[in-house]
Amino acid sequence: MPTTTQLQATSANALYPPRVVAPEAALPIWRFLPAFLSNPLRTLPRAVYEEPLCSPPNFGGRMAWVTAPDLVERILLEDHEAFPKSPIERRIFAAVLGEGILTAEGQSWRWQRRTVAPLFRHQEIVALVPAMARVADEWSRRLSAGTAGRIRRIDEDMTDATFDLLAATIFAGATEAEQAALKHHIGAYLGHTSWDVAFELLQIPDWVWHPSQPAMHHHARRLQRTISAVLSRERAAGFPSGGLMTKLGTAKDPQTGEPMSDALVCNNLLTFAAAGHETTAKALTWTLYLLARAPDWQDRVSEEVVRVAGAGPIKAEHLDDLVVTRRVLKESMRLYPPAPVLGRMTTKPVELGGQTFTAGAILVIPVWAIQRHRALWDDPDRFDPDRFLPEREAAMKRTQFMPFGFGPRTCIGMSFAMMEATVLLAALVRDNRFGWDGRHEPEPVSRVTLRAKGGMPLHVEAR
Ligand code: HEM
Repeated sequence: MPTTTQLQATSANALYPPRVVAPEAALPIWRFLPAFLSNPLRTLPRAVYEEPLCSPPNFGGRMAWVTAPDLVERILLEDHEAFPKSPIERRIFAAVLGEGILTAEGQSWRWQRRTVAPLFRHQEIVALVPAMARVADEWSRRLSAGTAGRIRRIDEDMTDATFDLLAATIFAGATEAEQAALKHHIGAYLGHTSWDVAFELLQIPDWVWHPSQPAMHHHARRLQRTISAVLSRERAAGFPSGGLMTKLGTAKDPQTGEPMSDALVCNNLLTFAAAGHETTAKALTWTLYLLARAPDWQDRVSEEVVRVAGAGPIKAEHLDDLVVTRRVLKESMRLYPPAPVLGRMTTKPVELGGQTFTAGAILVIPVWAIQRHRALWDDPDRFDPDRFLPEREAAMKRTQFMPFGFGPRTCIGMSFAMMEATVLLAALVRDNRFGWDGRHEPEPVSRVTLRAKGGMPLHVEAR
């Protein structure tokens, strides 16, 4: 059986980490569903990595993968109101996130975004760096402790570390048991979403039963119960824990002064947990994998952190100088975008890239393939952080690198995510050495976020 991942080494230093081998042509429906359930990225045919737009013939013009920068800009920015989010996200998330900012549309989205945006401004997030650095130092020590070459499941460590960071900054009022419940049920819920996505693409109505439904309902109920218990306790006590939950609980629309209902605050807290937890964990997991495979880059990051921050905690004033660290993070999010696919839909007949689509067609924006597109990148499957040298990054098209999306619905947590990922990565790599076992080439699997099949076991030892 052919493997779906591949490692090539064309020269001693060139690293071609795992990719997903594309089928030559769009799969027929009977092969599409099993391939999609196993890994949605396995259904992207080769043309998606080469052409500006690709509409699989067996979907009868109701679906297209769009990769060309001008088309992506039209959908996500210039004409964004004509291309709302596809029903896929709503179908996956409505049970957990309700009308929160990720799933809302129109007026409801606009006022929520206005109300929440000030909480995620750069200066607000900078104030959270000391809390981020405490979590980073604690995790760095944990990984160092008695490890001498021991193998750790870095994917699980990063899930725990990024959740600890959310707990310290957003869910400060939750008890340890509540935090553990949130972490467990979010991960479990996201792991069950492929049936919903596949059914939506195949236009199977949402009342049709699938095997993941009972588990999804169970995890959704537990998440909602947990978060509303935390919020009621915090509100009753006047929000003593501070942090982002307090700010959200007391936020008002800057235009109308309207506060959010408790239900909406809960939806949005769960939105931050769902959108912000696994994504950052996956960004760090893949980055540490790449650094384990590219020890020269790992040493450069470590040396940079020592030079900029010494042995103490990473501080806000260090961040601008951690240029190599950020370059590595960006190249990692190019090769392994934590949110690998975005979805939009048409609301009226439109012409895109020379093809006509009727109202209700699903437009998939495969960030995964855009960031490895043959027409956009030189040697796209190769790990090369120097692609993000300032002058080279400045020459990129605006949607060529888009791990946080693009346009008005771009990730609201982008500054938060880049800061937490930089602080964590800097502390972890300064204090520890990560090594590859010479064998594990995990297949990147899309489960809303980009997971590593078989997890991410890496050697860790204190530097
Ligand atoms: C590396 C980490 C992250 C990545 C790669 C990421 C990626 C994305 C992407 C691609 C979108 C746009 C979705 C679309 O247009 O369909 C998005 C939206 C969003 N993200 Fe993130 N995200 C990350 C971290 C975070 C964090 C830490 C938070 C909050 C604490 C967050 C909260 C949100 C929210 C609320 C939205 C919806 C915005 C809206 O629709 O107006 N994300 N994210």
